[in-house]
Amino acid sequence: MKKGIFIVIEGIDGSGITTQSKLLADWFSKKGFRVFLTSEPSEGGIGKLLRTYLKNNSINPAIDALLFAADRVEHTETIKKKLEEGYVVISSRYFESSIAYQSSQGIPIDWIEKINKYAIPPDITIILDAPPEVTIERVEKRNSISHKDKEKFERIDFLHKVRTVFLSRASKFSNYHTVNATRDINTVHKEIVRIIDEYVKKIFKG
Ligand code: TYD
Repeated sequence: MKKGIFIVIEGIDGSGITTQSKLLADWFSKKGFRVFLTSEPSEGGIGKLLRTYLKNNSINPAIDALLFAADRVEHTETIKKKLEEGYVVISSRYFESSIAYQSSQGIPIDWIEKINKYAIPPDITIILDAPPEVTIERVEKRNSISHKDKEKFERIDFLHKVRTVFLSRASKFSNYHTVNATRDINTVHKEIVRIIDEYVKKIFKG
């Protein structure tokens, strides 16, 4: 039985997912909630393998889809346990990243859904939205600071496709919220908190 709250932060590369997930986790901690902050690709064996594949342009996209799904099966076990223990679980990326990125690589959405059968639905999904022209600049700055090589998805034309999928999915589901991520970190954080606070108040009242 699930007792906690499952929140997922999504968006294209450089949209601020990691930063905003951390800020939200701090916000919940300060309110006295027990928080489990996590991310995908996970820290497990499949997640590590995925990170090496993210450097390789010649991998068949179906393999990417399968590996992300496999990583998620493992990750979901951990998430479920934490939710049963009553934690607020915040994940930087989850199932929607597979829908957006792997469908932009040409993989049909119905197959992505099938292989992700064991993913669990988040209570709230926040999509951080910004044009790739803005986010790619942040990514390049970050990569040059950490001397990290470019990953295969960090390209403007590809991220345009990914963004379009995220936005179209967000328009279909009432528990998906799009947040304009071109603004400064604190303004974006405040808007996320407003959305989450409204949800938390609602579930604790009902
Ligand atoms: P990201 O969170 O951007 O990691 P990093 O901190 O290394 O930048 O995730 C890595 C990439 O993996 C990112 O481009 C999105 C992609 N991705 C998918 O294509 N499918 C998925 O299901 C997930 C979780 C991530």
